[in-house]
Amino acid sequence: MNDASVTIVQNTEHSPTFRELSFTWDASLGRPRAGQFLELRLPGTTAPLLRRPFAFSAYDEENQTASFVYEVRGTTTQLLSTMEPGMPLQILGPLGNMFHAKTKGVIAVGGGIGLGPILYAAHQLSPHHDLTLVTGYRSQESIPYSLYTPSCPPSICTDDGSAGVKGNVVEYLESLPQERFRDTTILACGPHPMLAALASFSNAVGCTCLVSMEEMMACGIGACMGCVIDRTDGTKARVCKEGPIFNSGEVVW
Ligand code: FES
Repeated sequence: MNDASVTIVQNTEHSPTFRELSFTWDASLGRPRAGQFLELRLPGTTAPLLRRPFAFSAYDEENQTASFVYEVRGTTTQLLSTMEPGMPLQILGPLGNMFHAKTKGVIAVGGGIGLGPILYAAHQLSPHHDLTLVTGYRSQESIPYSLYTPSCPPSICTDDGSAGVKGNVVEYLESLPQERFRDTTILACGPHPMLAALASFSNAVGCTCLVSMEEMMACGIGACMGCVIDRTDGTKARVCKEGPIFNSGEVVW
C-alpha cells in the first residue's frame, strides 16, 4: 500500500450510467487484486474533503495500467467524469483484502456500482473455475455492454425486463437448479439489500458467499473507525482494514 500520483489514461463512458477510468500503474505499488480498492483524492481541489474509495475493475500488467468503474452521482464522480487523459490523480492503494474461491464453481454477482470489482473477479477466476457471471440493472439503457469480455459472458437481469431476464439477481439465482450451488462460492458486490438477500440465499442453498461491503471510507487505513460493521460473533470489523471482503455469515445484516 502506497500513496502515489498517477496519470489518467482513459476516462470512458460505457453507458449513461457507467464510466471507467484507467490510469497508469507503478509496479512498485504491488499488483491490485479483485476486491481491493484505492482511496482517491482529486489533486488541486478541496472538494471532497475526504478521500473516496473505488474498487479496482481491471489491471493490465503488460501496459501497467489499472482501472475502476464508477457511476456519476455526487460531487466527486461528477468531477471525475470531466477529467481527461494526461491529468494527475492522487491515490492510496491497493487497500483491503481480495476475492478468492476454494471451490470449483464460482458465481460472481454484481449489482449497481458493484459491477467493477465483480467483472475483475470474474476475469481473474474464470480460467481456473467453473464461473457464472450474473449482473443486475434497472433497465437496458444502463447496461455497459462494452465492459464485458467474450471470456466472461454475463447473465443479465433487469428490473423492468427490457434486457435479459426480468427480475433481480437473487430471483435469477433462485431459478437455477440446486446442483449449480454444489461446491460453489458466490462472490458479490452491490447494494446492501442485494448482499443481505444473497447472504440469506446462500445460507439456504448451503454454499459459501463472500460479499464486498460498501461503506463510506474516509481514511482507508483503519484509523478513523468510520467504516465499522457488526459481526455475528459480537465483535466489530473495519471494512477498510479487515475487509472489504467478508464471509456473508460473519456480517450482522
Ligand atoms: Fe477509516 Fe476504515 S475508513 S477506519
